[in-house]
Amino acid sequence: MKTLLLVALLAALDVTSAAGSHGGGSMPGSPHNISRNDGGLQQVVLNAAYSFNNQSNDAFLFRPSAILRAQRQIVKGIRYIVDLELSRTVCRKRGNDDHLSTCDFQPAGRLQQTFRCHFEVWLVPWQKQTKTLVLLCKA
Ligand SMILES: *[C@@H]1O[C@H](CO)[C@@H](O)[C@H](O)[C@H]1NC(C)=O
Ligand SMILES: *[C@@H]1O[C@H](CO)[C@@H](O)[C@H](O)[C@H]1NC(C)=O
Repeated sequence: MKTLLLVALLAALDVTSAAGSHGGGSMPGSPHNISRNDGGLQQVVLNAAYSFNNQSNDAFLFRPSAILRAQRQIVKGIRYIVDLELSRTVCRKRGNDDHLSTCDFQPAGRLQQTFRCHFEVWLVPWQKQTKTLVLLCKA
C-alpha cells in the first residue's frame, strides 16, 4: 500500500505572535480538550475532509471516521487542534462533495484505506474567516 504524505500550509500564520499582542486586553487561553460531540467540531472535521479531498488525487472521497483528539483554544477567534482519521468512501469525486457526510465507507478489501491527520484551523467568526494552519496526513 502506498504511503502518501500530504502537507498543507495554506496560511503561514503565526498564531503565537498574534496572541502575544496584549492590545485586546484579554489573555489568550491555553488549548482545552473538547467533547467529540461539540457542534463546532463537527463542522471543523468536515472542513478537514474537504481540504483533504481537494488536494488528493484519489478517485474517491474521504470522510472523517474517528476523532482521536480535539482541543480548542481562544486566540482572537477560535483555534481548533484535532487529530482525526479520514477513510475512503464509496463516493467517487465529482467536483461537488455536498453529499460527503452521507457516503458509506469502503467495505473491507483492497480499496479500504485510512489516513491519520493532524489538523489545525483558526476561525474568526466576526470576520467570517477560516484559516487552515496545518493539515498533515499519513497512511
Ligand atoms: C481547492 O484547491 C484549489 C487549488 O489548490 C484552490 O484554489 C481552491 O480554493 C480549493 N477549494 C477548496 C474548497 O478548498
Ligand atoms: C485530552 O485528551 C487526550 C486525548 O483524548 C488525552 O490523552 C488527555 O489526557 C486529555 N487531557 C486532559 C487534560 O483531559
